[in-house]
Amino acid sequence: MQFVNSTKIITVVKADDLPQLKEAGAIVRQGGLVAFPTETVYGLGGNALDPEAATKIYAAKGRPSDNPLIVHVAQPEEIEGLVAKIPAVAIELIERFWPGPLTLVFSAAAQVPRRTTGGLSTVALRMPAHPVALAFIEACGCPIAGPSANLSGRPSPTTAQHVMADLAGRIDMIIDSGHTGVGVESTVLDVTVSPPQILRPGGLTLEQLREVIPSVTVDPTTVQDTPPEIDLVRAPGMKYKHYAPKAEVLVIEGKPEGIAAKICELYDTYISRGKKAAIMATTETAHYYGQRRTEIVGTRADLGSVAVNLFDRLRCFDAQGVDVVLAEGVDMVGLGLAVMNRLRKAAGYRIIKV
Ligand code: TXA
Ligand code: MG
Repeated sequence: MQFVNSTKIITVVKADDLPQLKEAGAIVRQGGLVAFPTETVYGLGGNALDPEAATKIYAAKGRPSDNPLIVHVAQPEEIEGLVAKIPAVAIELIERFWPGPLTLVFSAAAQVPRRTTGGLSTVALRMPAHPVALAFIEACGCPIAGPSANLSGRPSPTTAQHVMADLAGRIDMIIDSGHTGVGVESTVLDVTVSPPQILRPGGLTLEQLREVIPSVTVDPTTVQDTPPEIDLVRAPGMKYKHYAPKAEVLVIEGKPEGIAAKICELYDTYISRGKKAAIMATTETAHYYGQRRTEIVGTRADLGSVAVNLFDRLRCFDAQGVDVVLAEGVDMVGLGLAVMNRLRKAAGYRIIKV
């Protein structure tokens, strides 16, 4: 596969910047790829109805082609031609949570190419809550296949600079609208089963979903603290090594004080062995680490702040040439469920409990 040589970056702050978005839309209609902002992370957009565009997306990301792409729409009504059946619960969820960080898995209509769905008979759909994303999809005039705009295996991009670092020269355009708001990807919910099941915890919390579906279940492989049995994982993307910076990551889980004491001990051991170690801390615990190399990811009092910064912090350790990242675990409530799912994967399930 031949990649484009230069990637154009445009800055779009407001959704009414029509000339720029029209240019982006024309690229997609001609079969090209445009990275675009959403409220969760940046997506890599291509025409979801064009199998060639899906092939290009897999190649640009270096992604296995059995890992299905999320299809983005600008209006709830647009899902009608894309799904074979809309369960009643989905209508309720769409009314309550769209636009927003909730992706719903439906049985797919025949017109959705199997290359977009990674060969599956189901399709994942979402309407993002970002004005520029919605204006971009409208400018394209077609549903947009949009995986996270990172190289496969790397942390998802929350800025256009992250997209550049991974995909410059591999895609046609990047729409830069600044830092994304949520920071972790959407929650993927399978509504083809009853009760619906979370296949990937994400930006819409389990607690929020329970308000509409009290019986909602969670794929146990996404919340366990040991590497999942590959055959049991239900969202194909959740079985791959993921979110990893180049440095080795270790997660230390438990009560904050115990975590901090263990991290100090590990840090000093690594340094004495000539390794460049770094700590991913929270505001509540940062003072324990003294002069040790520390990055604050957010506050335990608001796990949304940890979600927003998580991928950026994981990437920043690479820029510092760090060998080992010692990351603090947080509570698996609210957005903490998605944060811990990503962090444990980034660590390849190297977890120390204190
Ligand atoms: O927030 C997000 O969801 C971002 C933004 C750009 O919208 N997109 C995103 O896409 O995270 P991606 O491709 O990086 O992750 C999609 C996840 C993967 O784990 C994939 O396996 C799963 O959703 N998925 C997609 N279609 C599916 C399907 N039909 N059945 C089960 N899982 C599916
Ligand atoms: Mg991804």
